[in-house]
Amino acid sequence: MADVMSSIEPAAISQTSTAAESLESPALSLAARQVRVGELALGPRERFHLQRVIDSDRLSYGPVTREFEATFARLHEVPYACFCNSGTSALQIALTALKEHRGWADGDEVIVPAVTFVATVNAVLHAGLKPVLVDVQPDTYNIDPCRVADAIAPRTRCIMPVHLLGLPADMSPILELARQRDLAVVEDSCETMFARYRSRPVGSMGDIGCFSTYVAHFLVTGVGGFATTHDPDLARLIRSLMNHGRDNIYITIDDDDETGSPRFREIVDRRFRFERVGFSYRATELEAAIGLGQIEQWESIVASRKANGEYFSAALADLADVLRTPTIPSDREHAFMVYGLVVRGESMRPLVYHLEENGIETRDMLPLIHQPVYRGWLGDDVGLRFPVAEHLYERAFYIGCHQYLTDEDRAHVVRTIRRFFNR
Ligand SMILES: Cc1ncc(COP(=O)(O)O)c(C=O)c1O
Repeated sequence: MADVMSSIEPAAISQTSTAAESLESPALSLAARQVRVGELALGPRERFHLQRVIDSDRLSYGPVTREFEATFARLHEVPYACFCNSGTSALQIALTALKEHRGWADGDEVIVPAVTFVATVNAVLHAGLKPVLVDVQPDTYNIDPCRVADAIAPRTRCIMPVHLLGLPADMSPILELARQRDLAVVEDSCETMFARYRSRPVGSMGDIGCFSTYVAHFLVTGVGGFATTHDPDLARLIRSLMNHGRDNIYITIDDDDETGSPRFREIVDRRFRFERVGFSYRATELEAAIGLGQIEQWESIVASRKANGEYFSAALADLADVLRTPTIPSDREHAFMVYGLVVRGESMRPLVYHLEENGIETRDMLPLIHQPVYRGWLGDDVGLRFPVAEHLYERAFYIGCHQYLTDEDRAHVVRTIRRFFNR
C-alpha cells in the first residue's frame, strides 16, 4: 500500500512568512494549554442573540431560527435551509424524504465512502436503506468517483459523497453519474461549510446537503444540523419529517396567529394532522442564537482556519518523505475543519502518542472499517476490498485547525512534530 500513497505528489503549498517567523521563536517546552481539536468561546455576537431569545421567553422555532436559516441558505446559495437538532438527523431526514419522494423501497442501496464518520452509514441504516461502501482517493481521502461507477447496481438509488475534514469531494463526475443513472445525491457536508467546488458551495450541488453544528465544527451550537435543498417539495418533506411528520400548514406556533386570515379555520382543522411517520428532530431558538452569532463572523472563522492550514502545510513541507499534509486540488477550496495528517511509515500510533503526551489532541481519521458494530456486515476481508481506507486506518489522523489556535499553539504543534522526526 505504501506505493498507492507515495505515488501522489506531496501537497504544493507555498511557504508563508508567518510560518517561517514563528518557527524561529524561542522553543516551547510544553504547551501552556491543550491544543484541542475544537474549542468554543461565546463572544458578544452570540451573547447578543442569546439575550434576544431569553428576553423573548420563546424557545420553539421562531424568528432567530428563521434568521439563522436564511443566512445559512444565502451563504450556501440554496433557497431552503432547515435547521434541525444534528447532522445525523439531517442525513436521516434527507434520505427518508427522498425515499418517500422517489418511492424507494426498504433495502435499496446508497453508495457511501469507506472513510467517514459512522453517522453517514448509520443514517442510511436508520432510513431502512442499504449502505454500499466505496473506497476513497489516496490524495484527498474523499470518495473515488471511478469506483462509484463500478458500485452502481440495479438497486442503487443514491450517492452520498462526504466532504471530508473541510475539503469538498470531486462532485462533477458524481453529479454526472447520478444524472445518467437517475440517482439522487445527498452531500454529507457535516465536516465542511462555506467551501466551494468549481465555484459552487458545498450543500448546493446535490438534491440535499447536510451539515452539522456539533462541537468542533465550523459553527458550534452544541447540537444542531442543517438540511439544504433547491427543491420546494423536498423542503416541505424535510420540515414535516423533523416535526413528527405533521402537515406543513402548521410548523411554528405563529402559524395560527392570524385569526382574520382566510386560511385560519383550515389551519385550525389541519394543525394536528400527521401525514407520515416522522421524527422529533427540532432544535431550539437557543442553538439558533449561538449559530446566528457565529455565522455573522463566518468570513473570519474560515480565514483563520485556512491560514492555520497553510501555516502547518508550509512548516511541515520538508517532512514530505515521512508525513503527508493535505492535498488541495486546484478546482476547490479546503475550509480546514481540522488538519489531516498521514504518516508514511507503518503506523501513526507512535506519533499520535507523542503529540498527545505533549498536549496536542488528535483523532483517528474517521475509521469506519474494522468497527465492531459493522463486523458482521463488512466481513473479515474488509481491508482487502478497501485498500486505501485500510492504509488510512493505520496511518491517518487529524489535529485542530480552528480559529482559537494561538501563534504559540501553532508553533508548538510544528516543533513537536519536527522533534518526533528529529528534524
Ligand atoms: C461526516 C459526518 N457525518 C455526520 C456527522 C454527524 O453530525 P452530528 O454529530 O451533528 O450528528 C458527523 C459528525 O461530526 C460527520 O463527521
